[in-house]
Amino acid sequence: MSQNFAQLCLDGQTYTLPIVEGTAGEKAIDIRNLLKETGYITLDSGYMNTGSCTSAITYLDGAQGILNYRGYAIEDLAENCQFIEVAYLILNGDLPNFGELEQFKRDMKRFALIHEDMIHFFDHFPPNASPMSILSTMVGSLHNYYPEMDDEEDPYGGITVTTARLLSKIRTIAAFSYKKSIGHPLVYPNAKLNYCQNFLNMMFDRPNMPYVIKPEVASALNKLLILHADHEQNCSTSTVRLVGSAGVNLYASISAGVNALWGPLHGGANQAVLEMLELIYADDCNYDKYIKKAKNKEDSFRLSGFGHRVYKTFDPRARIIKKACHEVLETLDIQDPLLDVALELERRVKNDDYFQTRNLYPNVDFYSGIIYRAIGIPTNMFTVMFALGRLPGWIAQWREMKEDKVNSRIGRPRQIYTGLTLRPFLPMHER
Ligand code: CMC
Repeated sequence: MSQNFAQLCLDGQTYTLPIVEGTAGEKAIDIRNLLKETGYITLDSGYMNTGSCTSAITYLDGAQGILNYRGYAIEDLAENCQFIEVAYLILNGDLPNFGELEQFKRDMKRFALIHEDMIHFFDHFPPNASPMSILSTMVGSLHNYYPEMDDEEDPYGGITVTTARLLSKIRTIAAFSYKKSIGHPLVYPNAKLNYCQNFLNMMFDRPNMPYVIKPEVASALNKLLILHADHEQNCSTSTVRLVGSAGVNLYASISAGVNALWGPLHGGANQAVLEMLELIYADDCNYDKYIKKAKNKEDSFRLSGFGHRVYKTFDPRARIIKKACHEVLETLDIQDPLLDVALELERRVKNDDYFQTRNLYPNVDFYSGIIYRAIGIPTNMFTVMFALGRLPGWIAQWREMKEDKVNSRIGRPRQIYTGLTLRPFLPMHER
């Protein structure tokens, strides 16, 4: 921690505020005692400039387009790891050795089933129910079936077991919700398959039509999950922390995170991108029309998949995904006209003054949908895929918050009240 201080002048008085410095040199003014000492609060809607915690999980430099998990570059992890290894890294701080990875894989297999009673829940959602609402409901409900969370000594309880349960079961829930939505019989987890293969098999295997898992498909899914695994204090992760700060259980906190992710400005953007590309394609590739709409402040339309609160040069995940997109389509011998639409849209946006001056580049969601589509994932499941990937990050952030006994307290922002000041009460006949 730095020894520097900031000075603040208020009403003719000077206050000294400590500076906090992170391991990569980023600096913050610690204002935790500001209200007590000065009577002022800070106002920062959208948390444009507010650090809500210190964290040792993910490092992100938006100006340089850097993203590291636990000190490892995202590029190295995406190229060399299995998703489950990266999940272990994010959760535990180090990459697993052989024995640790084998144990973690065994846990994924051991906890893959969901209680049979929960399967009946799926029957009672309407046919067009959103897979994200189903996911958040089912994740929240897990608490009723697997509540053991506090006793770390109990082989069926404790946060380590709960973490493994959640990571394994979310995949089963996601695949079951898809099977139910199309009216097909469920495919149960298969202990012979790895994490990604198992998910694909539960999604696409059918009686009398066995699903052949192509290594390229499993590998593309693996990469996408790794690239989504954590992203420090984004909207859904902050939601998980905020909800968890009230003392609620992990499942309820994650369920809240799923709901936050659903929004089209956040994880829901991957679905919105694909729908937008389809729209442009169906409209004779009238790029100018949609670019013009996106720039028009009277119009709520935005180019989904462009822009980011933190990245101001490029999103490193988008770079990797764009490359993977070409590779996957080529290996699977798929010609998707939407890739051409995406490439042309990106080219035009890059040369457009409006987008240039606002630093709006493709983000993680811009090309991911084309890969999901190529591997057979339906559009309304895209954001569920994001949730599967983000789960290790949500859990690790929740656990970090709980373990920080010094700083962890209930999340409770302040406000500046702008309503009416006290006025006399009017009895009914005078209103
Ligand atoms: N299309 C058109 N204009 C945009 C866009 C866009 N996609 N994104 C931002 N702008 C404009 C915005 O209108 C504003 O213009 P002005 O300064 O004239 O008012 C300026 O750029 C700054 O935008 P902002 O909304 O103040 O920026 P923000 O940091 O609050 O929002 C964002 C970030 C990601 C919500 C926004 O860029 C956006 O809506 N993008 C489209 C949705 C999207 O792709 N979301 C996925 C984000 S990445 C994955 C994730 O985190 O889940």
